[in-house]
Amino acid sequence: MKPHARPANPCFSSGPCAKRPGWSLQALEHACLGRSHRSKAGKAKLKEVIDRSRAILGVPADYRIGIVPASDTGAVELALWSLLGARGVDLLAWESFGEGWITDAVKQLKLKDVRALRADYGVLPDLGQVDPARDVVFTWNGTTSGVRVPDGDWIERDREGLAICDATSAAFAMDLPWDKLDVVTYSWQKVLGGEAAHGMLVLSPRAVARAAGYVPPWPLPKLFRLNSKGKFNEATFVGETINTPSMLCVEDAIDGLKWAERVGGLKGLIARSEANLAAIADWVERTPWIDFLARDPRTRSCTSVCLAITDDWFRRLDQVAQRAAVKQLEALLDAERVAYDIAGHRDAPPGLRIWTGATVERGDVEALLPWLDWAYGEIRRAAAA
Ligand SMILES: Cc1ncc(COP(=O)(O)O)c(C=O)c1O
Repeated sequence: MKPHARPANPCFSSGPCAKRPGWSLQALEHACLGRSHRSKAGKAKLKEVIDRSRAILGVPADYRIGIVPASDTGAVELALWSLLGARGVDLLAWESFGEGWITDAVKQLKLKDVRALRADYGVLPDLGQVDPARDVVFTWNGTTSGVRVPDGDWIERDREGLAICDATSAAFAMDLPWDKLDVVTYSWQKVLGGEAAHGMLVLSPRAVARAAGYVPPWPLPKLFRLNSKGKFNEATFVGETINTPSMLCVEDAIDGLKWAERVGGLKGLIARSEANLAAIADWVERTPWIDFLARDPRTRSCTSVCLAITDDWFRRLDQVAQRAAVKQLEALLDAERVAYDIAGHRDAPPGLRIWTGATVERGDVEALLPWLDWAYGEIRRAAAA
């Protein structure tokens, strides 16, 4: 039977993610448009993003926070190009994005002293292998497998290398141990439902020291340069962006941060995401055709929940047919305006991915679940006919 209730907001995409509850274009009314981003008013807006982000995330006062071009990818690649090569590096990958950072280090930067520590979709590599004398690059939450690191206990406090963390689908939904992290990146388009234009780059004092004292052997485009006239460019970290930002996106980011404060700051945001995960976990528990892709419950993402279809009928299909079945399920729910964009990532094993970050309401997740049962029943019935 087709369920009656629909989610009020059918946006479950893993990026760009759902806007915050109650968002409308009116939220952008006070954007600093048609003005220089280097004007007093423009700089104040950029600094407001930095200051509110610091307060909500609990970033230590001696860490720098900068707004950089090109969303999370821009922030990560700026860090890799500026900082890597000074010592050996361990790169961890357990899904598509981590794999992309390995490609950067090996094929583009052509680093020689690289160890790639990999694991398949659903599990983590052996974190105990990470050598504190080397740099380490990893994603806090693997968005395409729904597997996150459970904590930062495996990172040594008095490490010699830098811990470089792509936290784009974790920031604002998971606790990040700042004393264990030297570089943290994220984009506005994820947990706070902002726009993708810019990346956030957080640097520890040790990362700043590396950036100030190390000149990589490869050319650096202006967009990636952390140094100016031989000195670390502090201005980037008080809102003087490297190039022109979208002040419309900046306003939207401020709106997201103010909403985050209203729902209880980081604690409130984490609670919202975890409650969404719990709603799905309850359903998975009582639903025979589905399971989490993440094998260890401690590593299950509370933002990008990836689900494997474990039913015999589905398992017997080849990958192409499995992907087609998932697409069919997605299309059914799209046509019903119940859920958009819930097929797993193209690089992941065929399955579902449901974004459950803080802007998603638990009531909407709960309303979605019976529709998943319905849609799966429909595609099975169609296949049997
Ligand atoms: C872990 C991770 N890294 C990087 C990216 C790329 O982010 P962006 O498209 O914002 O650059 C994503 C996007 O989903 C991601 O999930």
